[in-house]
Amino acid sequence: MRRIGVVTAGGDAPGMNVAIRSIVRTAIFHGLEVTGIERGYAGLIEGQVRHLGPRSVSGIINLGGTILKTARCEAIKTYQGILKAGDTLKTQKIEGLIVIGGDGTFRAASELHEASELPMIGVPATIDNDVSGTDTTIGFDTAVNTALFAIDRIRDTATSLERIFVVEVMGRERGFLALEVGLAEGAEFILIPEIEYDLKDICRRLKEGRRKGKTSEIIVMAEGAGNSASLVEQIKRDTGYDVRLTVLGHMQRGGPPTARSRILGNQFGAKAVELLLEGAKKDMVGVQGGRIVTVDLDYAWKVRKEIDISLYRLAEILSS
Ligand code: F6P
Repeated sequence: MRRIGVVTAGGDAPGMNVAIRSIVRTAIFHGLEVTGIERGYAGLIEGQVRHLGPRSVSGIINLGGTILKTARCEAIKTYQGILKAGDTLKTQKIEGLIVIGGDGTFRAASELHEASELPMIGVPATIDNDVSGTDTTIGFDTAVNTALFAIDRIRDTATSLERIFVVEVMGRERGFLALEVGLAEGAEFILIPEIEYDLKDICRRLKEGRRKGKTSEIIVMAEGAGNSASLVEQIKRDTGYDVRLTVLGHMQRGGPPTARSRILGNQFGAKAVELLLEGAKKDMVGVQGGRIVTVDLDYAWKVRKEIDISLYRLAEILSS
């Protein structure tokens, strides 16, 4: 193998740049050339590539986002798109591709492998942490801490004005982020798509809490757990309390990666290059119980990752 490619796809995550840097420098250490694909799979289809040398990844270890840029690409979901992407890899003499992203990114990589027969290695990076086969993903720890930083400040004003705040965090499909943020924040309620909730019961418990001396509450809600604005209106109507909504939005995807996200980015990137050198065909790197592991790429996106229900139960007990 002489030349490998690297692409970041889907939503960006803090620490993607760390993984790019690690891939480039590990590859060069082993005598490989690296081609960077720009703008995710859209760039791969359109042939937007650039050579990545050791200096092209200087000064990026602390930067959120991705220097290669990324895209939500519809075309890669079509057979034509897959064929065009495969053509770019062949024209550019790329003999193995490292794809950095989430489940959608890996699904496309798997199809690309079938069509091109080129090796594909996945590096999990998403603030949603919804990738099977790895305990955590690059960027997740950063997003948890970013949301926590924001909600700590919301807590101050909530306490002062004796208000209820509903804070919507990202997670269109899954509640991993909301669950960890909620537990770490000591939120009174955590609403996630995986667990049904009864609004009447929440209002009843809010009123009971006030009778027992609580004066303000934080409700952490995942984007995918319902309509936060209408939830606020319903709580207002039922309880008569002062309720406000904060939607944290895309700020959760930016900012410098935490140490944990950086260490993971370094380890995952280096391991992905090693796998290509060892002749791996279609794998993902991951971390399980603190150890860097290799899992089948298809497992990562085909199998639904379960949330840790014990965290949810613990948060419930501790919020009383
Ligand atoms: O990256 C994943 C994610 O952050 C989801 O949690 C969120 O719902 C979605 O991306 C938002 O995507 P976009 O920026 O494309 O609107």
